[in-house]
Amino acid sequence: MKALVLSGGTGTRLRPFSHSMPKQLMPVGNKPVLEHVLDNVRAMGATEVGIIVNRWAPEIRSRIGDGSALGIDVTYLPQDGPRGLAHTVIVAREFLGDDDFVMYLGDSMLGDGDLAEISAEFQRTRPDAHVVVGKVADPRAFGVVELDRDGAVVRLEEKPERPRSDLALTGVYFFTAAVHAAIDAIEPSARGELEITDAIQWLVSAGARVRASQFGGYYRDTGRVEDVLECNRKVLENLRPKISGAVEDSELIGSVVVEAGARVVRSRIEGPAIVGAGSTVVDCRVGPHTSIGDGCVLDEVAIDYSIVLDGATLTRTGGLRASLIGRHASVGGPSEGGTRRLVLGDHSRVETAA
Ligand code: TTP
Repeated sequence: MKALVLSGGTGTRLRPFSHSMPKQLMPVGNKPVLEHVLDNVRAMGATEVGIIVNRWAPEIRSRIGDGSALGIDVTYLPQDGPRGLAHTVIVAREFLGDDDFVMYLGDSMLGDGDLAEISAEFQRTRPDAHVVVGKVADPRAFGVVELDRDGAVVRLEEKPERPRSDLALTGVYFFTAAVHAAIDAIEPSARGELEITDAIQWLVSAGARVRASQFGGYYRDTGRVEDVLECNRKVLENLRPKISGAVEDSELIGSVVVEAGARVVRSRIEGPAIVGAGSTVVDCRVGPHTSIGDGCVLDEVAIDYSIVLDGATLTRTGGLRASLIGRHASVGGPSEGGTRRLVLGDHSRVETAA
């Protein structure tokens, strides 16, 4: 089984970050979403991986390379624009040949679950398509899947007003070569994209075998800041404590990682939390559920449930919560009391008044 990982798209919902980086490289637990995806792909036994890329191809290539560091063999597949999830299969046709494959959205986080088992079931039973679904509270924002009593898919609907089930697509799909005929048969949707849900619905209507498995872990696409922060919280829940940097006159509580070359001075770090390599944290309160990237400087800051990207500087900002601070952004005080929320793109600069 091959893998097709989708790392194109526009990332409109993740502006301003998607102006300066591909959303698939947004770090959760200080590791890009795309690497979490590729770890899951390898765990399913798929080592031949095609990655769909667009204008951010150089950034993605420079991070992932040929994939050997992740135990996979990567082929980059350029897509000329965000023409839909099903369009990526057309882009990848030569790479895929007639092989079975798993299609995995490069911004989808699935954790603590049984993907490898679902993958093994697909490879054993080989239905024409096999989708991974999960229960959601409000299905109206998702691709919704209706099943019969035997677990066969009878209908798929994209963002329905009146959902017929609470099972949403998670962003992981398994296909045999039967999907190619379906994609050739469908037309672009009202938003001008070739939709994978239309291709799967075409298979269902043509009498093909389309199955679904319910994912037992957590899953979320990292399309919005709120989702990125929530995924970060989830990933940090599995953090193993490790202190490689220097810690002076500080209190570390719970699962805390202080990476090599980092310095934590006169601070209280409440895990789960990570202080990235080469970062300096002085007179701060950090965490829980907070990731500080590499080469950051935090001075007299209280921050929790937040992500600070590489090279950012925060000085006397007062309390920060649910914040996402872009690479090399700089936030300066003086400021006392209260809690702020900042969503700052790369190279932003903010001065808060007292
Ligand atoms: P989406 O999140 O549906 O689309 P998007 O990236 O354009 O984001 P937004 O809605 O905020 O503008 O895409 C899901 C994943 O699939 C994501 O990793 C990007 C990728 N993708 C492609 O590679 N090619 C495409 O044509 C599309 C539509 C998405």
